[in-house]
Amino acid sequence: MTPVKPVFWKSPHLYIIDQTLLPVQAATIELASLEDVWEAIKSLRVRGAPAIGICAAYGVLVGLRSHIDATPETFRDRARRCIEYLATSRPTAVNLFYALDRMRAALDAVPAHTSSQACFAAMEAEADAQYAADIAMCRAIGDCGADLIQEGAGILTHCNAGGLATTGYGTALAPLYTAFERGRHFKVYADETRPLLQGARLTAWELQQAGIDVTLICDNMAAVIMRDGLVQAVLVGADRIAANGDTANKIGTYGVAALARLHGIPFYVAAPSTTFDLKTRTGADIPIELRDGEEIRRLGGIQTAPASVHTYNPAFDVTPGTHITAFVTDRGLLRPPYAETITHAMQPPFPAP
Ligand code: MRU
Repeated sequence: MTPVKPVFWKSPHLYIIDQTLLPVQAATIELASLEDVWEAIKSLRVRGAPAIGICAAYGVLVGLRSHIDATPETFRDRARRCIEYLATSRPTAVNLFYALDRMRAALDAVPAHTSSQACFAAMEAEADAQYAADIAMCRAIGDCGADLIQEGAGILTHCNAGGLATTGYGTALAPLYTAFERGRHFKVYADETRPLLQGARLTAWELQQAGIDVTLICDNMAAVIMRDGLVQAVLVGADRIAANGDTANKIGTYGVAALARLHGIPFYVAAPSTTFDLKTRTGADIPIELRDGEEIRRLGGIQTAPASVHTYNPAFDVTPGTHITAFVTDRGLLRPPYAETITHAMQPPFPAP
């Protein structure tokens, strides 16, 4: 499969595929200012935990490129403010904070009084390293999980944890791409994923592009296809995984996990090591983004509910680690007890900044 390029840097310009336009249009746009980067993350033009992190890392450079002639002190001050600002865009995916922490650490590692140009170059090298690492981690996840996809199986996925959510190969979809490349035949069911339809607009689109057999279902159909024996495994991504295995992912994931448990179907979470957050002990400590109620009152721009009806619109939920059969990671397949296996596999907790 030819990986998509949802985020890319052509020094000193940052481009993304505007995912709000998919599947009708696959348009690449430039994020020309720091504010553009913040808005693109907030409004889900770029989305998915790893892609948000990579976009933010390069986004810092967008905010700094007009300051490379400033004094080193002014440059460092501006860098700090860019990092703090981008950190306010979305709260749940830990990859955003990991990427920004690494950008801060890359600057801190440059000796004081070093020229602003050299500081910029060091931070650009760091963002490039994060990009390359994400490509490698997604490929490793594909290798790790490919054998979970059995010949003839039906696989259910929720939201989009594919190429569009990463540097191009995906996390939950990576084992599917790898299994497909190895000649395995299987069928994917994609939940449409209300309210913003990442499953319908993005997962269905990218699996079709890759030539993989995909069937779109409404979120409320998962129980029936499980009961009818059409699903042999569930594979989803993650936005933040606590030290005990509790996992934040797109709203609705918890319901799918509960259904899988009820029907005795294995439920796998695929994620790179950058999504594990050992500083967060349990799911109760994960901040959950609350989004505008208009996303629920409208569908495709058309009003579908009374204009003034109260809404509750959490973008993510937390699936207890007890519902997760295994984590498919770049550091291998992790099984319970997660407090031990995650802590062991993710030492040091993150690739050191
Ligand atoms: O709100 P989104 O579209 O950014 O939510 C994305 C998800 O929940 C994905 O499943 C998750 O980020 C994993 S992406 C590899």
